[in-house]
Amino acid sequence: MVTLFGVVLIAGVIVPRVEAKRAFFVFGDSLVDSGNNNYLATTARADSPPYGIDYPTRKPTGRFSNGLNIPDLISERIGAESVLPYLSPLLKGDNLLDGANFASAGIGILNDTGAQFVSLLLFLMYRQLDYFEEYQQRVADQIGLARTRKLVNQALVLITVGGNDFVNNYYLVPYSARSRQFSLQEYVKYLIVEYRKLLQRLYDLGARRVIVTGTGPMGCVPAELAMRGTNGGCSAELQRAASLYNPQLLHMIQGLNKKVGKDVFIAANTGLMHNDFISNPEAYGFTTSRIACCGQGPYNGIGLCTPLSNLCPNRNLHAFWDPFHPSEKANRLIVEQIMSGSKRYMKPMNLSTVLALDARK
Ligand SMILES: *[C@@H]1O[C@H](CO)[C@@H](O)[C@H](O)[C@H]1NC(C)=O
Ligand SMILES: *[C@@H]1O[C@H](CO)[C@@H](O)[C@H](O)[C@H]1NC(C)=O
Repeated sequence: MVTLFGVVLIAGVIVPRVEAKRAFFVFGDSLVDSGNNNYLATTARADSPPYGIDYPTRKPTGRFSNGLNIPDLISERIGAESVLPYLSPLLKGDNLLDGANFASAGIGILNDTGAQFVSLLLFLMYRQLDYFEEYQQRVADQIGLARTRKLVNQALVLITVGGNDFVNNYYLVPYSARSRQFSLQEYVKYLIVEYRKLLQRLYDLGARRVIVTGTGPMGCVPAELAMRGTNGGCSAELQRAASLYNPQLLHMIQGLNKKVGKDVFIAANTGLMHNDFISNPEAYGFTTSRIACCGQGPYNGIGLCTPLSNLCPNRNLHAFWDPFHPSEKANRLIVEQIMSGSKRYMKPMNLSTVLALDARK
């Protein structure tokens, strides 16, 4: 089936396209990178086995997952193909109209986050937004300005960023200049001010439905249990950071919605979603939320996931795939809550409600 300029060609018969496909744009860090970093000169990559071991091709794709990641699963739920990384050579022609993924592992809200990954070469957040602008130009050349504007206004957007500003910046030993510059409270405030500017720019570029995730329980990921946790417990410092940051993020999002007069930004409480299976892994079908499937050392939390790492036989039993990233199974549970979670998880509403509302327009 070929779709072209609003009509669908089925067996040579032209029928009007009933419902234009909704484009999907993704911004942020490794939790949502679908392979951009494979095209960049950086060490922050998931380009060797066993990454991708449960992906349909069984090959690494640059996703920091054993299989699908959160954007893939959102695409699946809205009945679309996964969107391509912006740097993929396949992203051209009709494919451009389905959206694009601009995310880049290692980056944060701040430009200096992820510097240890040679971050000047990464898609820093402001560059992801520059590329979004460039993307719109490319699409406009193809279908004109008015239709491009409409495509962007009607698109779904996901942004996941902020965790690295703590783990790969403020708490990074021994580089953390920011921790000498700011108290944790001041730093969180600063991040929120900078994040607000990024979201405002996304709005100015035409985004009208944007899911914004908070940070997970950063202190409880296997890497932190191994490095900073005390007696096998979560890192209290990083948990404190998450508990300061997430409520202020929500407050900022609500303020922005008020300012623009619409529920443009949808806050996903990914911290709470993660906490559910960290506090009661068995209830979600996991045998552990503490030991990563792939890694080495205590909790498999040390270093990177590589062909030489320990690898668990059944990825579905682990909440964490590698020292920092959820397994596909955990990503599925998160996307389930994004789709149909209550107001505790999704404010002001869940994605199925968003989709139902937008379909009526
Ligand atoms: C990051 O760098 C860009 C380009 O130099 C600049 O416009 C932006 O304000 C910087 N962001 C922060 C948070 O400093
Ligand atoms: C979320 O989505 C479901 C539909 O799947 C809806 O029934 C439910 O009321 C929503 N949850 C909220 C807003 O609490």
